[in-house]
Amino acid sequence: MCGIVGYIGNKEKKEFLLNGLKELEYRGYDSAGIAVLKDGKIDSFRALGKLENLKEKTKNFFSDGFGLGIGHTRWATHGKPTEANAHPHSGDFSYIIHNGIIENYKELKDNLIAEGVHFLSQTDSEVIVHLFEKFIKEGFSSKEAFKKTISLLKGAFAILLITKNDKESIYFAKNAVPLIIGKSKDGEIFFSSSDAPLIGHCNEVIYLEDKSFGWANKDRIKLFVNKDKKEPQFVPLTIDKTYAQKDGYRFFMEKEIYEQANVAGETLMGRVCDNEIVLDELNELDLDKINEIKICACGTSYHAALTSAYLFERIGRIKCSVEIASEFRYKEPLLDQKILFIVISQSGETADTLEALKMAKKAGLQTLAICNVDNSSIVRLSDATLLTRAGIEKGVASTKAFATQILTLWMLALFIGQKFRKISKETLNLEIKALLHIPTVLQVKNSLHEKIRRLSKRYLHGHGFFFIGRDIFYPLALEGALKLKEISYLHAEGYPAGEMKHGPIALADSKLFTIALMPKNILYEKIKSNVEELSARDATILAISPLEFDLADDFIKTSMQDHPMSEFFEMMIITQILALEISIRLGNDVDMPRNLAKSVTVE
Ligand code: M6R
Repeated sequence: MCGIVGYIGNKEKKEFLLNGLKELEYRGYDSAGIAVLKDGKIDSFRALGKLENLKEKTKNFFSDGFGLGIGHTRWATHGKPTEANAHPHSGDFSYIIHNGIIENYKELKDNLIAEGVHFLSQTDSEVIVHLFEKFIKEGFSSKEAFKKTISLLKGAFAILLITKNDKESIYFAKNAVPLIIGKSKDGEIFFSSSDAPLIGHCNEVIYLEDKSFGWANKDRIKLFVNKDKKEPQFVPLTIDKTYAQKDGYRFFMEKEIYEQANVAGETLMGRVCDNEIVLDELNELDLDKINEIKICACGTSYHAALTSAYLFERIGRIKCSVEIASEFRYKEPLLDQKILFIVISQSGETADTLEALKMAKKAGLQTLAICNVDNSSIVRLSDATLLTRAGIEKGVASTKAFATQILTLWMLALFIGQKFRKISKETLNLEIKALLHIPTVLQVKNSLHEKIRRLSKRYLHGHGFFFIGRDIFYPLALEGALKLKEISYLHAEGYPAGEMKHGPIALADSKLFTIALMPKNILYEKIKSNVEELSARDATILAISPLEFDLADDFIKTSMQDHPMSEFFEMMIITQILALEISIRLGNDVDMPRNLAKSVTVE
């Protein structure tokens, strides 16, 4: 996800901009750039890849003495990661950086092109600078031109703009994407998309509200909210960097649970267009040659794979099998070239998954990576990649990576159904509608979190947990159990609900905690009778369902959703928060659980 920094003052601007961007690195990016306005001249530098490349490009550039600077790390959404698409974007005399998405950019761009404007990038962001300059050329002042520009933009944005037309000011705007303004005791002004770059530089900040815009110079900040003038309200800045990176959450895992609504939007971006799934990344593959899918992965990614197997067969109508990578490697598998071999990995470095991929390549199979880290070993080796766009995941216990993997796989199942004409237009429309609803489903309600926090104190002992579910809720049960065991160190198992009576039910007593996933849209009556059997044996039951269930000891009511995937994501959040709250009560280090590493690069 993109990062923004800005500076007004006398110090070396390059230094603050590059160091600030370094602090935002954890958000993930594929290019970076800066622009500095000093003595009426703007110098701009952009580089693909790591910040080191930008550092190298700017090594002979110095900019002390009064001036303005803006800096950006870009994580590609519209347009490939190329230098031309990196920010800042420029017009004839102005430069902008932008985070977020301009939803109506196409229409704005077409109008500008019709008026003779020449675009240099494929981004949505570039329209901002051209719109601004168009208004200047029509005779408006910089301030009026900026106001008019912002009023035309629809979507989410944090924007900084500098222009030779006003050598003193940085113009800013914020809607639905974070932007902070900071002030130092020496009168310098700073901008950033999160606290971390500001720590050590300023002591007071303004966390801009949505629909804010304005301009700042060394003497004053002019702020408008909803077009009304507003007095800037500064608050003290926290001084703990890790706390700042966690945006006030207790753990990265908690922050990442809350980020899921946002990153789900990123995952879908540009891939769901006009009632069609568009996955240009698959152009590298010859899908006409495949009639089967095999997926290999480990841990949480394996659970995403298991979930998707239901979707591939049910919606995509294509045969799909799933294997744990460490098992697959040594079973001497039979590999037919009509198989599309998919590997799923958050890190892209998991040793077993990477080896499985090498085996598939050696056998001449077409390969596809579903991965969160671009340029990772798995991405580099695969024939094609669908990036999950979850942003950097710091908590060892995977949350947002799982959510975005499932979304990506769901889109892929739809894409395959669409390509081989196995899915009706009507069903595709319904599925797309459900897909687009997921970012809303993923918003965590305070009341829900508080309810789970209170409930969690009853689940700190006992001789084990069974998470049970059926169909896609079975892999979700596996994932719920994995989440709990990794960070609480309590024994937990995921089980297909229908299998309990074939053995595990022998364990049922009041100290066996059963977390029952009971969606209304898939096999409700079946799971209900499975849970009744456990209840009859006095197991302690926490039922998660939109439908009241009297036999449960505890009950978390979910909302009435029409689509099973909406229920899936809602229940996923509940199991994640349950694991988090139990572990916090047990005093564990949630982000760095014992014996575990974020990236498992050894066999
Ligand atoms: O990076 P990968 O997705 O390949 O990692 C696979 C597993 O190591 C990972 O999912 C692990 O199970 C997580 N700790 C789960 O929270």
